[in-house]
Amino acid sequence: MKIRYILICMICLLCFTACGKNGKQEKDDTTQSNKDEYIVVGFSQLGAESDWRNANTESIKKSLCRENGFELIIEDGQQKQANQIMAIRTFIQKEVDFIVLAPVTETGWDTVLREAKDAGIPVIVIDRMVDVQDESLFTCWIGSDFVSEGNRVVDWLRDYLDANEIEDSQVHIADIQGTLGASAQIGRTKALDAAVEQYGWDLVAQVSGDFTQTKGKEVMANLLDEHEEINVVYCENDNEARGAILAIEEAGKVAGTNLLEGEILILAFDGVSRVAQDLVQEGKIGCIAECNPNHGPRVLEVIRKLLAEEQPEKLFYVTEGMWLKPDETQ
Ligand code: AHR
Repeated sequence: MKIRYILICMICLLCFTACGKNGKQEKDDTTQSNKDEYIVVGFSQLGAESDWRNANTESIKKSLCRENGFELIIEDGQQKQANQIMAIRTFIQKEVDFIVLAPVTETGWDTVLREAKDAGIPVIVIDRMVDVQDESLFTCWIGSDFVSEGNRVVDWLRDYLDANEIEDSQVHIADIQGTLGASAQIGRTKALDAAVEQYGWDLVAQVSGDFTQTKGKEVMANLLDEHEEINVVYCENDNEARGAILAIEEAGKVAGTNLLEGEILILAFDGVSRVAQDLVQEGKIGCIAECNPNHGPRVLEVIRKLLAEEQPEKLFYVTEGMWLKPDETQ
């Protein structure tokens, strides 16, 4: 094993250059010769539900490409933990060198991560967190501070209300949550709940939109039917926000920042797609807390460290900002 790692290290040092877009990294036939030639990484991605997710997959593919010395096997979990567990077991059977896991929800990973640990395969968790009894079951985690993201959005709302002299009692919020049990949902919902408690805003409803545009639209249409008073929608990603805007416009209402004129104020997260960024510029979304999907370079760095028998940081938070209209940018 050690000799193989030294060989891998040497290949690694020779090959660390940026990967071309058309690299052959998607090939997943892990033959013995590939194993000898490349560092084999099994990547269990939870799905393809959002623009953010697709950008995240691309980031990993770009960093762990053939030109950088990797054989990357990607398994799409299609939003189901059972699929992800199956993928990890397959990676263990294939004796991959590393596993990268983007988990759909936080709980339920103890058994399969123990199996990976027993097989001697380091697991790098990205994006959402795993909630396990024994933290040594994963090597390290790279992702976002989802509570801070939520705080940035509620702080923006606080400033907006103050600047427009809108009373807290006039605020009626609907929270279109992400996939329930996902760290991004847990953190963002937690930040909103705390602000609702602190300021006494009316939280009209909390319903999951599963981080998708389709579900966001469906949920928003139902909310508009049931609660006429809603004037703020806290969408836990911008695909949901895009769906919500479509539902608002189909209902003959306006998504915008003139709350006092009857417009519905949309707040969101991610800001990965140009479409979402443009919606901020058009004033259809009040603000977006950035969620950074570019985990690939950091994963690459972590693997390099592990190959050099160095210890990477256990938890690594990516840097993030806000998407605002140009006149609001500090
Ligand atoms: O876990 C990160 C979240 O998952 C992103 O905000 C969302 O778009 C994605 O689906």
